[in-house]
Amino acid sequence: MNILIINGSPRIHGNISAMLDAIREEAEQRGAEVTTVLASRLQVKPCTGCMTCRETHHCVLPEDDAQCVLAAIKSCDVLVVGAPCYWGNMPGQLKIIFDRIVYGMIGEDTRGLPLPLHKGKKAILISTSTTPFPFNILFGQSRGAIKAMREILKWSGFKVVSAIELGGTRQHPAGEKVLNRCRKAIKKCM
Ligand SMILES: Cc1cc2nc3c(=O)[nH]c(=O)nc-3n(C[C@H](O)[C@H](O)[C@H](O)COP(=O)(O)O)c2cc1C
Repeated sequence: MNILIINGSPRIHGNISAMLDAIREEAEQRGAEVTTVLASRLQVKPCTGCMTCRETHHCVLPEDDAQCVLAAIKSCDVLVVGAPCYWGNMPGQLKIIFDRIVYGMIGEDTRGLPLPLHKGKKAILISTSTTPFPFNILFGQSRGAIKAMREILKWSGFKVVSAIELGGTRQHPAGEKVLNRCRKAIKKCM
């Protein structure tokens, strides 16, 4: 089984990274092939909005790391995306990647409605925020990031099996309780 982890946090020793590490370790122990991508380390130019890719299924910009991420998404069985809440959404670096690979995530039917290209694949979403529970959910903080990522994966055909949110990270960084939830989530996908 191929598992792709996309880490949308620029903090390699942060909360999202710890949660994604727990997932990677659990998956590897169970014999999965795990690839991890650090969004903040990639060279990806922002989408120019030309819409050409909707017709040609190819991006007009010079090839960069966006195509590597798309190739990895195409060959994975399970996709795990972790992103801290930045302004109630995912960090910009991660959003830029998804914008650049839209043509490899969805097609379009004759009415212009999206056609999912990854139907049947499972996904796990992870988010964190300094806003503590329950306000991280009620005020759309970690919940906002989850909602934005869910939107992309849903239309692309992924089934989001688990969405894990950790609020109040300044007072309570990721501990065993949430790490165990992450381990359980990947077990469910295997
Ligand atoms: C640019 C920026 C914007 C942020 N926006 C929010 C926000 O809107 N709401 C919130 O609760 N926390 C916000 N945070 C805090 C992060 O979500 C929080 O520190 C999170 O735990 C970081 O996760 P990490 O340790 O995995 O990087 C923001 C942090 C940064 C750097």
